This record gives sequence, structure tokens and C-alpha cells, in this order.
Amino acid sequence: AAPLALVVGSYNHDYAWRVERAPQAGQTLRGDAFRTAPGGKGFNQAVACARQGVPTAFIAAIGADAAGDGARRLAADEGIDAHWQTCTDAATGSACIVVEAHGQNRIIVALGANERLDPAFLREREALFAAAGVLLVQLENGVEATCAALDLAQAHGVLRVLNPAPVHDALDGTLLARCDLVTPNESEFALMLARTGGARIDADTLAGRDDAELHRLARGLGVPSVIVTLGAHGCFVSHEDARRHADARPYYRVAAEHADVVDTTGAGDAFSGALVAALLRGRGRPLRDAVVHANRCAALSTEHRGAAEAMPRAADVERRFGSGSSA
Ligand code: RIB
Ligand code: NA
Repeated sequence: AAPLALVVGSYNHDYAWRVERAPQAGQTLRGDAFRTAPGGKGFNQAVACARQGVPTAFIAAIGADAAGDGARRLAADEGIDAHWQTCTDAATGSACIVVEAHGQNRIIVALGANERLDPAFLREREALFAAAGVLLVQLENGVEATCAALDLAQAHGVLRVLNPAPVHDALDGTLLARCDLVTPNESEFALMLARTGGARIDADTLAGRDDAELHRLARGLGVPSVIVTLGAHGCFVSHEDARRHADARPYYRVAAEHADVVDTTGAGDAFSGALVAALLRGRGRPLRDAVVHANRCAALSTEHRGAAEAMPRAADVERRFGSGSSA
């Protein structure tokens, strides 16, 4: 059988408001639309991957509640092989999302059941790790579960990808030492540098720095491949050993694709999920090809409202960027 993409991560029920501008302290604003939708960085990334036509398995924890029932249905509709740990003492995760008129978002998460994901539940599903080609994790679970997933993947020679979002105190060198590839955005990259004892850098200045300096900073994380997503500035790629990936250069940028942005929620998830799909499909091909594909999927995701629902399908990528552009 073809190897799987395995995503171990979060499911959240998203409550999203659209407003002209986010409220100031003490201010009450009228929003012009409200909706609830599926989300959670793990689920969004699993959907992004599955919609690129790659067999995708997903392991997550939910509550014994209506939001959790919804999660099961949605995963089945997407053709995802989902394995749910059901918690009776914690609710399904939820997120409060404020989307401003120009598409920028602000998010608060209550992780609930996601924090209860049990390393033992993962170990009982070791067969999924054995069948996987790539593992993708994020930082919306307890760090023990994330580390257990990375260790199981390593035991089976599976490529380990971490989207370090949202960065929090548990992210340190011991977690990073378990990863083959990381996909931080600017602020996550800056926080990772600070947390691993590296340089203190203002995230807003990253995109404007020169590539040799970004490469030197990225190498300080000790992860073989680092891809920093820079929003409208595209992304920056740095590897330890360019030859291993058949990429001619140890570091380079890939420009952003044009998009008519309505909602950037989940754009980073579109990037990581589509990257993993392309890595699995294009094994032996240069990393750069996968990054270009991920960049396209991220751009397309910003043209639609919502997170999981906004993930493009392989056919959408072909329609916009031409045939042969799907991973
Ligand atoms: O990355 C976007 C996601 O972050 C949302 O779907 C929300 O649930 C939070 O996890
Ligand atoms: Na979106």
C-alpha cells in the first residue's frame, strides 16, 4: 500500500466573527457576520493534506459532546482515516476567531480535550506510524503526546514534520531535536530562536533580513530543514544538507502567490498540510517543488472564509496554476 500521511494534532470548533477592526480594551463592537466552523490546526492540516489526494490518517482527542460528534462526521466526509480519543472529562476544543476587514485574524483557543491526548492512545496505534511516510504534528496537544508521536515516527523511519504553532513554553531543544523539518511563521521563528537560547529578533524585521543571516539563524535551531513562512513575502527555506534534498542551494526564498485575500485563518495550516502531501507524493524530488506547491495552497486558502473548509483541492490548484502543478 502507498504510505500514509499521518497527522497527530488538534480538533477545535471555531467561533468566528468578522469585524472592521478588532475591538480595543473596554470597547464593544458590532460584527457583521458570525459563523461556527471546523478548525484546530491538526484537523485543518489533515484536511489540507487529504484534499491533495493523499491517503491521510488523523489522531486527535475530542469531548463526548455535539462538537465532537460533528468532528467525526466531518472527518468521514473528507475521507480521512480518523482515530478519536473520546474524553468524558474535557470538552472538545474551541477557538474564538476575530477576522478583520483586510483578512487578518486574532485567535484565542481553549484546547480542552486536545490537551488530554494520551501517549498510550498513540502507542496503541503504532501500526499507523509503521504505515506512514510522513508524520505532521503541531503544538495544540500536551507536549508528552507530541513527543511520543515524534518518537514513534522515528522508530519507524518516518519523516517528522513539526508546525510549531502556537509556540509556547514547552517548545525547547528536546522537542526540536526530534524533528526533521519545521514550518514556523515569522513570530513563531522569532520565539523559537529566543526559546532555544538564540538571538532575540523582532519578528517584524525578519522578512527584510538578508538570506545568509536568516540561514545562520535557522541553523541555530538544530533542525535539518527549516521553512519560515513570511505571509505576503512568501517563505524562506534553509537546510543542513542541500544535496540530500536535491535542492542545489542550502537556502533560498520562494515568492508568495497573488491572492484576493478574504480570510487568512488557516493559511499556515494549508501550507503545512499541502507540504506534507507534496513530500509524500514527490519523494526524491527537490524540497523546493513541495514548497512551491504548499505556497500555492496557502494562497488559495486565503480566498475563502474559514479554516478547514477553505482548504483547496488538487483540482483548484490545477485550475489556477496549470496542470502538472498538483504536488
Ligand atoms: O490555524 C488556525 C486554527 O487555529 C483555527 O482553526 C483554530 O481552531 C486554531 O487552532
Ligand atoms: Na481562509
